[in-house]
Amino acid sequence: MTTKGLVAVFVGGLAVGCADQGASQPGSVEPAPVEVAEAVAAPSVAVTEQGIRFPADYLSLHNYLSLDRTQNPDQIIRLFANDTALAGPAEEGGLAFGSVLVAEVYKAKLDEDGEVVTSALGRRMRDKLALIAVMEKRQEFSGTHAAALANGHWEFAAFTPDGAVADKNLDTCRACHAPLGATDHLFSIEHLAQR
Ligand code: HEC
Repeated sequence: MTTKGLVAVFVGGLAVGCADQGASQPGSVEPAPVEVAEAVAAPSVAVTEQGIRFPADYLSLHNYLSLDRTQNPDQIIRLFANDTALAGPAEEGGLAFGSVLVAEVYKAKLDEDGEVVTSALGRRMRDKLALIAVMEKRQEFSGTHAAALANGHWEFAAFTPDGAVADKNLDTCRACHAPLGATDHLFSIEHLAQR
């Protein structure tokens, strides 16, 4: 009996070890649709190197703006903000720490010739969800980027639609948002604090 008990404990320990390993390798999550719900519900949510977690509940945040992307002719973007970000900028310093902005980036529908299709309203139409892009403003941010990549206390992250860390060079995000110092490195700041 005693030996059996020990074996059981040992096997249990191994199982826990495997689960931990899975959690530390978020990139290995399979993109099978059937597993999406499990991946989102499971405690092993993907986390980037900078410690940004996949915002699994982002659809419950406020969808403050949706539009045809202004700098990408074949994409559509839907923007979500948590309550802190939705409060808008303070007089100085932009949004408060703890602000989270989530961007759903969709491919636009294309016709047979590969041209973007527009609706009767002259708007692009959503095809596949391509990327979930996140900006999180952190008080404890310790990034030491050169001026061209410095975005104050904002950290960037990119996830695949099924919640794994996307293979993206985040310096491209930083480079495009960095010049917007006057609006706290945000393109859509005027659309926050509108409720
Ligand atoms: C070429 C420029 C460019 C790059 C690169 C870029 N963005 Fe943006 N981003 C924009 C623009 C422009 C908007 C406003 C909506 C729009 O027109 O697409 C925006 C909006 C956002 C928003 C909503 C907050 C805001 O600033 O309005 C988030 C979050 C965001 N981007 C994250 C990212 C992340 C993460 C990456 C990298 C994976 C990234 N962006 C790369 C141009 C860029």
